Amino acid sequence: MAVPAAVYRELHLLPSLLSADFARLGEEVEAVLDAGVRFIHVDVMDGHFVPNLTIGPGVVSALAPRVHERGGILSVHLMIEHPEQFLETFARAGADALSVHVEACPHLYHALQRIKSLGMGAGLALNPGTSVERVAEVLDLVDYLLVMTVNPGFGGQELIESALAKVPVLRPLLPTTAAIEVDGGVNRENIRRVVEAGANWIVAGSAVFGAGDPFRQAQELAALMREPAKCGPTREGLP
Ligand code: DX5
Ligand code: ZN
Repeated sequence: MAVPAAVYRELHLLPSLLSADFARLGEEVEAVLDAGVRFIHVDVMDGHFVPNLTIGPGVVSALAPRVHERGGILSVHLMIEHPEQFLETFARAGADALSVHVEACPHLYHALQRIKSLGMGAGLALNPGTSVERVAEVLDLVDYLLVMTVNPGFGGQELIESALAKVPVLRPLLPTTAAIEVDGGVNRENIRRVVEAGANWIVAGSAVFGAGDPFRQAQELAALMREPAKCGPTREGLP
């Protein structure tokens, strides 16, 4: 399913399944969709690009009908070496948006074009240690930029402030039609600050699934995320 263009401009909570109960994945997905969430964020790790192994296209294809029949969007975050070899696989599995890491992909321009030509939203992810300059050449091509605010590989880490500080720098460099996704260490205390920095797709793993009752956690985090700014205006055009 193509991601509607307006969705890149909207504010969304993206629960990350990494912290979900893998024995009950379908129910965990239903719980957050019932809470009004539109996106499911899926973390794919290969034990090489990051020191952890998670799930692959089989799980994406198993979840896709359940997500799509509710109007949901499957956003897949590839933390793997040679991501360009798996673009078709994840498109077939039912991914709607697919991000590759700049650090893992020497032919970025080609990879982003290919993701788009397969009908998916094209995402570019950058690690906390990767500079803004490193992605400048391809910013016009991305549908969303995924700014990692922890070192990729594990849930439950603390947000790295210097990584979040890249968001307001990147925002004016991106097309106004593109989203900025922040991933890592987002919780109740900092979620509003992440939005105020300029991010509009907000990933939360342990804050949704690691605290019991994902339905309630997703609802409460989404409400906190949408709280009116305490000082100064929020980004124009966002709901
Ligand atoms: C980490 C993953 C994240 C992870 C975030 O490499 O990309 O999506 O699930 O987890 P929290 O929200 O617990 O930091
Ligand atoms: Zn992720």
